[in-house]
Amino acid sequence: MTTQTTTPTLVHTREELAAALAVQDVQAVPRTEGQAGTAHTARPYRRAVVMTMGALHAGHLSLVARARELADAVVVTIFVNPLQFSPSEDLSRYPRDLHRDLALLSGPGLLGPDDVVFAPGPEVVYPDGDPIVRVSAGSIGDVLEGVSRPGHLDGVLTVVLKLMHLTRPEVALFGAKDAQQLAAVRRMVRDLDAPVTVVGAPIVRDEDGIALSSRNAYLSDDERRRALGLSRALHARGTADEIRAGARRAMRETEVDYVGLVDPVTFAEVPADFVGEALLLVAATVGTTRLIDNAVVQVGV
Ligand code: PAF
Repeated sequence: MTTQTTTPTLVHTREELAAALAVQDVQAVPRTEGQAGTAHTARPYRRAVVMTMGALHAGHLSLVARARELADAVVVTIFVNPLQFSPSEDLSRYPRDLHRDLALLSGPGLLGPDDVVFAPGPEVVYPDGDPIVRVSAGSIGDVLEGVSRPGHLDGVLTVVLKLMHLTRPEVALFGAKDAQQLAAVRRMVRDLDAPVTVVGAPIVRDEDGIALSSRNAYLSDDERRRALGLSRALHARGTADEIRAGARRAMRETEVDYVGLVDPVTFAEVPADFVGEALLLVAATVGTTRLIDNAVVQVGV
């Protein structure tokens, strides 16, 4: 008797990935233009990609579950991208546990044997060493995260575009917790005509309100209590200036990096007399751990 395996196909090299994608291509449910697959399958896309740096948590798994609903075949990439870490950030400290990640991805409603986990090393993604040509996040990369982490978003966009080319998805899913990253990816896809639909997925929070992050694992009990200031900051209300001040107050037990109240598309700060919907973004360090969070807020109402 054969045992039906439910684990996804794990690949590390470009050649293994190409072979696994070819299998997915052969198995793809045929669709004609405009049909969006509805005549054959309820799923609108053939292949979805969820890009991660591993150390998976429920936030990542919610993206994979959504990918599963949207596409016949799913590829999850696990790659800690050196290009998006500055020399002062400890790349080697970033948590890595492929065995645990694979077990989580094989959970109910997530990946099956026809799905692929692509876990390359840096020598596979960057065979010629650091790339000479890179994607620039432009003005979106110059504010907030871009000030605190210069070049970070350029590094993210460069690897995202490479992984899009390598995995050939019709749809790519990104979490809203990295709101600036999501906005930059959307803008890259639009400005550079990448043939991929970008889907953003809501932030997943623990019961106490803290946004799930691989970095939460670094927090001691006391640091975690202080870290709650970030999600509390997102409840600030009033005028633009009152919201900025209220958010800073809520984070007084952290080392505040920034409070941004911005237009969700351009990431330009909204003026003091602004009335309407804006994105409130906060970043702070607690102990040695840097955390970010964000929410859409009504300003001046
Ligand atoms: O959000 C992340 O985990 C990373 O920035 C990403 C999109 C996988 C690129 O390395």
